[in-house]
Amino acid sequence: MRKKIIAGNWKMNYCVNRAEAFVDEIKDTINTDEVDVVICPNFMALDRISDLIDGTNIKLGAQNVYPEDKGAYTGETSVKMLSAIGVKYCIVGHSERRQYFNETDEFVNKKAKKLLEVDICPIVCVGETLEERESNNMFNVVEKQVRNSLDGIDKELMANKVVIAYEPIWAIGTGKTATAEQANEMCKHIRDVISKMYDEDTAQKVRIQYGGSVKPSNANEILNMSDIDGALVGGASLTNDFVAIVNY
Ligand code: PGA
Repeated sequence: MRKKIIAGNWKMNYCVNRAEAFVDEIKDTINTDEVDVVICPNFMALDRISDLIDGTNIKLGAQNVYPEDKGAYTGETSVKMLSAIGVKYCIVGHSERRQYFNETDEFVNKKAKKLLEVDICPIVCVGETLEERESNNMFNVVEKQVRNSLDGIDKELMANKVVIAYEPIWAIGTGKTATAEQANEMCKHIRDVISKMYDEDTAQKVRIQYGGSVKPSNANEILNMSDIDGALVGGASLTNDFVAIVNY
């Protein structure tokens, strides 16, 4: 039985004080018994939020990382820097980074492997554009992303540490959600790809989230689908809606 994992991706929102006030407000009402809850604030707020959630079951996530240990990489952050302040998860390959920062599957793969070296769980995002869906190419596109982004990752780590987030680009921040059936169909497809890359046992263990306009009104239906093991929540993770989604 896969435990659900619901992560809030705050993107470039909330300065430190606002971030602290919000987490303070939700931290005691959020259900962390049955669901793994991850909060991914902006880098500037990570350290303070880390202290604030210490002693709760809420896990800290980062939104990005650079896959080198140290050195002349102006503006970047290493896996060890994240690990040192208590980061347990890190989003990689989000479509916004693929789109605005030209990140490729190969780069995403490097980041995922580097995170696993320090025991941070990568949340690896994949998903098709509207054009790719309308031309019925979405299964091939997502299969290629999954294969390349996860290439060479050890089987045990794949089963127990990696989280995959299926986020159709046309559903992110648009208010347009994939139907629960469409989301489940793709999550099942991803699981089949993992089964082909590894084996059925690994495929049954890996957790696959859906992301794209998840809100309290659709969370229950989405999270009750057979192959959807959680949600990556953007806009709705900035308000009390996040509590409602986690308590779906
Ligand atoms: P959204 O974003 O929930 O605002 O659609 C999801 C995401 O980008 O992770």
